[in-house]
Amino acid sequence: MAKIELEFSKNGPILVKRDGKVEMALCRCGHSTKKPMCSGAHATSGFIAELTKMELK
Ligand code: FES
Repeated sequence: MAKIELEFSKNGPILVKRDGKVEMALCRCGHSTKKPMCSGAHATSGFIAELTKMELK
């Protein structure tokens, strides 16, 4: 069974990982031009957030 993790990256998107490999990056700053995916806009929007990780079981 694959290991699925969510990484709420520091000042950036939610990385959805399967077996350690990034499958997608979801916007959590609200400024993406490609919602729900991250467009990189967080880098210039002033978005600040802590790093958090979660494993789905
Ligand atoms: S988190 Fe990257 S554009 Fe929103």
